[in-house]
Amino acid sequence: MNNNYDVIILGAGAAGLMCAGQASQRGRRVLVIEHAEKPGKKILISGGGRCNFTNLHTVPERFLSANPHFAKSALSRYTPQDFLSLVERHGIAWHEKTLGQLFCDGSAQQIVDLLLAECATGNFTLSCGETVRQVRHEGGRFSVTTDRHVAQAPSLVLATGGPSIPKIGATAYAYELARQFGLKVVEPRPALVPLTLSGEDVLFRELSGVATEVIARCGPASFREAALFTHRGLSGPAILQVSSYWRRGNTIEIDFLPNAGTGWLVETKHQNPRSTLRNALRARLPDRLADALNDRLKLEGPLANLSDAALRDGETQLANWPFRPNGSEGFAKAEVTAGGISTAELSSKTMEAKRVPGLYAIGEAVDVTGWLGGYNFQWAWASGWAAAQAV
Ligand code: FDA
Repeated sequence: MNNNYDVIILGAGAAGLMCAGQASQRGRRVLVIEHAEKPGKKILISGGGRCNFTNLHTVPERFLSANPHFAKSALSRYTPQDFLSLVERHGIAWHEKTLGQLFCDGSAQQIVDLLLAECATGNFTLSCGETVRQVRHEGGRFSVTTDRHVAQAPSLVLATGGPSIPKIGATAYAYELARQFGLKVVEPRPALVPLTLSGEDVLFRELSGVATEVIARCGPASFREAALFTHRGLSGPAILQVSSYWRRGNTIEIDFLPNAGTGWLVETKHQNPRSTLRNALRARLPDRLADALNDRLKLEGPLANLSDAALRDGETQLANWPFRPNGSEGFAKAEVTAGGISTAELSSKTMEAKRVPGLYAIGEAVDVTGWLGGYNFQWAWASGWAAAQAV
């Protein structure tokens, strides 16, 4: 095996393969080292097997980072339309599901094949099932020692992602290497993850399997999508979205009736005075959820017997139901990792470490985390592309 390359990329995931394809097409000799037995395992399980590969509504405001401006440059230079053009050039049929989310009609394997085909047009070597033992930086060259050989290059790209879903090979290795080179790491935490309930909220776990459209809020963040009760707490897209903003001790608020206008309960009383709160709720929500909320609100009897003020108060509670999660389901269930290699250490244009010339970090390893819905792949493509122009 040749030992000298222009670029060594650690990790054959979304960002690493995008970077490899682009860099090899720029004439660079690229080696990608992947510890799993095959590339792109997270891509393969993404989007329920159909890969939600981008989002048409990508804007920097839909990404979390200690520096909210960091992602702007890369996202503006490699856009959802750029990736879509690539998808179409490879003849992959796609569809928009909802909220600008683009999926393959066929399978996520098509995206992995696309990335590998792009790499194959250049000078590219992929080595899977290889364990990195040591990385050194001497005389302007990086030297990567693995269980098989020693490879050298003037550029090294950290593309090993974050630690979410360790059972498919995810690791925190990028942070370890970043720290070795003196780069700061923003405390990683599970994101896009189900939240767990305890205390009084635990009673809601009896509703396991019930789903309904809600508005979920956590601080300034607010998402109108489905929420799902689980045997451990709360899940569904609305909850996964707010989980990225949630910190231990925070309360999240749920509006269970986002489609009911203000005053709906008083109006129901005037139209149907003999109705009860239970029936009014059952008309708008799954029965089990309606009953659980009714039991907690303690507004008994026909609506006609209840004052408008009491009904307005009930309405307010239903629109701002507080939950105080005691935790999340952790990295084992988190779709992504928030936090990561500090953006303060990197050039937003090239992803190169300011203090270690030749060292780059891209994708989920970096402290940039997208919303649910194709945003995280778009960041992987954009940051991988940006680094590829510089290596
Ligand atoms: P990624 O995790 O893709 O790649 C890192 C690679 O590095 C892996 O191949 C890993 O094996 C390898 N590696 C790790 N440690 C190593 C080491 N020590 N040595 C060598 N190699 C190492 N996003 C989205 O936009 N749309 C979607 O539909 C979904 N769906 C989805 C579903 C599920 C179940 C999950 C878990 C995640 C998603 N995501 C998603 C998120 C998306 O998969 C994720 O953000 C990107 O894959 C990140 O790309 P990276 O290349 O940074 O990491």
